Amino acid sequence: MPTKRRRGAFTTVLAAVAASALLLLQQTGAQSTPTAQPAARSASANYVYRVPNASGAAQQLFAAGFDVLEQRQGADLFVLGPSAAGDRLRQKGFSPTVEKVLPAPAWTPPAPRSDNTKRRPADVTETYYGGYHTVNAQYAHLDQVASQHPDLATNVTYGQSWLQSQGQAGYDLRAICITKKQSGDCAQSPNSAKPRFFLMSQIHAREITTGDVSWRWIDYLVNGYGSDSAVTNLLDTTEMWVVPVANPDGVDIVQQGGDSPNLQRKNADYTHGSNCDFSGQTGVDLNRNAGTHWDTTGISHDACSEVYDGPKADSEVENSSLEALFRHLYPATRGTGNSAPAPVTTKGVMITMHSDASMVLFPWNYNYAVHTGNDTALRAMARDMGGITGYQYGQAGEILYNASGGTDDWTYDKLGVASFTIEVGDNTGQGCDGFLPSYSCQDSLFWPKMQPALLYAAQHAASPYTTR
Ligand code: ARG
Ligand code: ZN
Repeated sequence: MPTKRRRGAFTTVLAAVAASALLLLQQTGAQSTPTAQPAARSASANYVYRVPNASGAAQQLFAAGFDVLEQRQGADLFVLGPSAAGDRLRQKGFSPTVEKVLPAPAWTPPAPRSDNTKRRPADVTETYYGGYHTVNAQYAHLDQVASQHPDLATNVTYGQSWLQSQGQAGYDLRAICITKKQSGDCAQSPNSAKPRFFLMSQIHAREITTGDVSWRWIDYLVNGYGSDSAVTNLLDTTEMWVVPVANPDGVDIVQQGGDSPNLQRKNADYTHGSNCDFSGQTGVDLNRNAGTHWDTTGISHDACSEVYDGPKADSEVENSSLEALFRHLYPATRGTGNSAPAPVTTKGVMITMHSDASMVLFPWNYNYAVHTGNDTALRAMARDMGGITGYQYGQAGEILYNASGGTDDWTYDKLGVASFTIEVGDNTGQGCDGFLPSYSCQDSLFWPKMQPALLYAAQHAASPYTTR
């Protein structure tokens, strides 16, 4: 049929144009004008604005609802948003310039949420944006690993996503425990025979690299047992817990973005405000919502802000469920107050992965002027992981910005666990920066960096506070 042929050829040309545009963007890392975008799309295009001389204004920008990115250059900050965000910045007296027009990635979105989990068999091969695993694929992977390695892996469902808790589709909240199983291992009780290393990813949905690192970490462990001596040793002595997708509702939104990327950071809880105009996203920032120094720094009360911290501490089920799991896995060893140290005998390390600032962070992240009672050991571990990855290290406010209510501050505060954020990023100019790096970056850059850093952290789970 001629019509069909014409359409087919047209589609092919479009795809080729899109692919070469994407390639160009990846090579240069930036595009100065949005001319290649079809009109219908450019209205909703996302821009990275450079905001000169704004380093003192980060908290003000957060509070005003701007999506302040992790990158910094001298005193310049970077803000993500549609053109309306640029207008708003100018109204507020800033002088933003367009640093980058975000590419519209060409991928076919997976089936929508209504077809997910309950209704459709999970497919371990389902990917988006050139190789990133969907929530269904991540969960199918956990099932596959457990059935192929029953001596090593134990699956745990620790809660429900917000949508599922509301009786809408949503997802289970899932973790896997990997160790050479002895009786009692991977039980949800805090005084475990083996120390525990906990890795989590995608609490911020759009930070898609982090989910891929967890996937590879799981494979590295189960495939290395019995052949790689470091892994074998680790699984004989340590429980390795992984939550690959801490915010599955958010990831579902991202993976359905297709050619109009939906850079969802928060969860899908729309009950606190859903008429979001220029910032465009409902939901609660799960990395501001945890009940530790909650509602103090780096937050906004605007429900449309990317750093909206929720109506109260731990209001979101993704966090309350995760925290219940942490309480089942680690005894509370630390006294109260900001400077009580966890005893030197405390076991356990927790890493929450974010992207893409190329940093290793440790508590207190709510306020860099306050140091923990374990500052020397936490800083030493962060310095070592910074050395391994080539990343900067420090308390968040020392090198990025103060931000309260984060997972790492919570696990350190309530339980005394040695806790870190790793901001997985490209600080070497390899074109792998941003939230949606080309999938090949996982092989070429991120996994080779993260594998030794995670191994180091896991090897310290037995005694993190005797590091120095
Ligand atoms: N990029 C992360 C965020 O904005 C860094 C947070 C640092 N704070 C923390 N509590 N870990 O959420
Ligand atoms: Zn993040």
